[in-house]
Amino acid sequence: MIEVRGFMKAYAGRTLFAGFDSTFERGKSTVITGKSGSGKSTLLRILNRLERQDEGTLRIGDLEIPANLPHAEWRRRAHALRRRVGMVFQGYHLFPHLDVLQNVTLAPVRAFGVDPRIAEQRGLELLSAVGMDGARDRRPARLSGGESQRVAIARALATEPEALLLDEPTSALDPRSTEDVVRVIEGLRAKGLTLVIVTHHQELARRLGDRVVEVGAVGDSGSLHRL
Ligand SMILES: Nc1ncnc2c1ncn2[C@@H]1O[C@H](COP(=O)(O)OP(=O)(O)O)[C@@H](O)[C@H]1O
Ligand SMILES: [Mg+2]
Repeated sequence: MIEVRGFMKAYAGRTLFAGFDSTFERGKSTVITGKSGSGKSTLLRILNRLERQDEGTLRIGDLEIPANLPHAEWRRRAHALRRRVGMVFQGYHLFPHLDVLQNVTLAPVRAFGVDPRIAEQRGLELLSAVGMDGARDRRPARLSGGESQRVAIARALATEPEALLLDEPTSALDPRSTEDVVRVIEGLRAKGLTLVIVTHHQELARRLGDRVVEVGAVGDSGSLHRL
């Protein structure tokens, strides 16, 4: 479970959200919507500890990360959580100089010391699960958007996270690639992975979400509320 209490983040004096509370239940899927610039990507980056909230507390499982932790302690706790939450970035961000399988095995081997042969075997299973078996030797430049996104999902799953954050996973895709990616996400949902999905697509929100949270919808005050 991921719990957010009293979150606030400000950039250059602009408050993105204030007093935001939300609970991302284990095994549930939450869709986050909201206007461009309202702070959706920022929220995901905070949940993934790529950034820190300015106020409020983040709790993941039994670990609590308040806003005012000293930096060294923040890093220690953020690291302890690293494997438990995976992220699929807007725009894929695959490593261009690595082939598909290397993209998937890099984090387990380099960051978590998994035996390369085990990581490779698991990587091939993941590629198969996202319909990308046969692409192990290809470079990202030779993949379509939909293929890149499915590899990015396999990569995020390679560290066996309990929760997966997806930032506009279909926004750059044509309808057919969108359907391929949505099916993959539906499969993850059916397996009980906790999902947090940023999307503008109403139909996707209905298909993929147990609930919808809208960012910055109250009188455009920059706050978040729950629907
Ligand atoms: N690292 C940063 N430094 C300064 N401003 C930022 C940074 N990241 C995001 N912002 C600003 O915060 C606002 C929200 O950004 P973002 O979370 O990407 O919104 P969304 O994903 O909802 O479109 C934007 O106005 C953006 O310019
Ligand atoms: Mg964004």
